[in-house]
Amino acid sequence: MAKAAAQFTCTECGAVHRKWAGQCDACGAWNSIVEEAPLSTGPGTRPTRGRAIALGALSAAEAPPQRAASRIDEFDRVLGGGLVAASAILVGGDPGIGKSTLLLQAVAAFAGQGLNCLYISGEEAAAQVRLRADRLGLAQAPVQLGAETGLRDILATLEATRPDLVVIDSIQTMWLDTIDSAPGSVAQLRAAAHELVSFAKRRGVAVILVGHVTKEGQIAGPRVIEHMVDTVLYFEGERGHQFRILRAVKNRFGPADEIGVFEMTGAGLAEVANPSALFLSERGTPAPGSVVFAGIEGTRPMLTEIQALVAPSPLGTPRRTVVGLDSARLSTILAVLEARCGIPFAGMDVFLNVAGGMRVQEPAADLAVACALLSAREDIALPAETVVFGEISLSGALRPVTQTENRLKEAQKLGFSAAIAPRAPKPAAPPGLKVQQMPDLAEVVGQIFGAG
Ligand code: TYD
Ligand code: MG
Repeated sequence: MAKAAAQFTCTECGAVHRKWAGQCDACGAWNSIVEEAPLSTGPGTRPTRGRAIALGALSAAEAPPQRAASRIDEFDRVLGGGLVAASAILVGGDPGIGKSTLLLQAVAAFAGQGLNCLYISGEEAAAQVRLRADRLGLAQAPVQLGAETGLRDILATLEATRPDLVVIDSIQTMWLDTIDSAPGSVAQLRAAAHELVSFAKRRGVAVILVGHVTKEGQIAGPRVIEHMVDTVLYFEGERGHQFRILRAVKNRFGPADEIGVFEMTGAGLAEVANPSALFLSERGTPAPGSVVFAGIEGTRPMLTEIQALVAPSPLGTPRRTVVGLDSARLSTILAVLEARCGIPFAGMDVFLNVAGGMRVQEPAADLAVACALLSAREDIALPAETVVFGEISLSGALRPVTQTENRLKEAQKLGFSAAIAPRAPKPAAPPGLKVQQMPDLAEVVGQIFGAG
């Protein structure tokens, strides 16, 4: 039998290469390619005889998944309405962002609702976890705690105790003695995740895996196991800001793109029930360059402040600095402003920022970004109490966006009295809110900024 060829895998993106290289040509990362043992069922091995699997009709009645709520609303909503039994959830995020804190609070909340919960820490000693629990006021929560990294022992423990929920913090510290590579390597990570996920499905135990996002490639990132789990949540936030956002990027049991907003306090993470009010709380009188964007995050409307600063540049290649938005989107909007409205930004530094450390991904933010840029460049503040939203096409036309009514309703709720929006087929403005519908960007430039 031919010997199965060795396989090389990128620890950053999981791309498979036939030979080792210093740089992964799929994601561009350096020193991230490692050798991995080939799969025993891969090409080059003889197929062995299997047995027929049980097949069933698609129409067979299936009960909706059983869910358990933690009563931490921001957490439950991101899961799609609670924790589904026998599901596998990955919670990724930068080291130190608050994953262990969040999950300790969540697991204590689930235990408080009567679930049998286990928390396995591979990073911290049991005493450290107890100290944190004490600080969070959760020392009395009926959670079983273990500190272990050997997966064989963990699986034996799970088999014996059969909890409803187990948290593994973190998956990168887990190792299987059957795999011949270091903990944190792609091979270990995949094998450990596979063992835990299949245990979850087989025994009806919900598993939450914590995964560190790494930039250096020393340990494999959570992306390589995203496809194995049912739900992928990322816990994000800017250092220096106390807001933390739990974002669903994949969910087999609920809507993706849903977010939960938390605030890191001295006593753990606190839920933020009304994020719009919080993100706008630091706003003073209307200033040039500041625009309030009426956005939608998941199923919820959310207002955020977009800030721009435009200044003459001393550099040959002017700076384009973006925080919280996509920088490619900024380039596109600058190009549209120049080509379709005759407003150049050449020779000017442009700084763009979403206040409060929030990240905005919706194309509907285009018009708010354009208004912030124009307002900063022309040094004209937008009329007070105005929200902005709309997608800009390359022709300069404004495209209608989804959930216009929800955006307007939220704006009115927070005391805004006007909105600048694309032309939508049926404008349904709540009372007291004046909507200015604009066909294209040139119209906005002319009407709002009196330029162009
Ligand atoms: P942690 O949950 O350990 O992060 P991760 O598991 O993602 O690596 O969070 C660590 C940070 O959170 C640390 O910088 C201290 C801060 N923190 C608070 O501000 N308040 C608290 O009550 C707790 C427990 C942590
Ligand atoms: Mg941790």
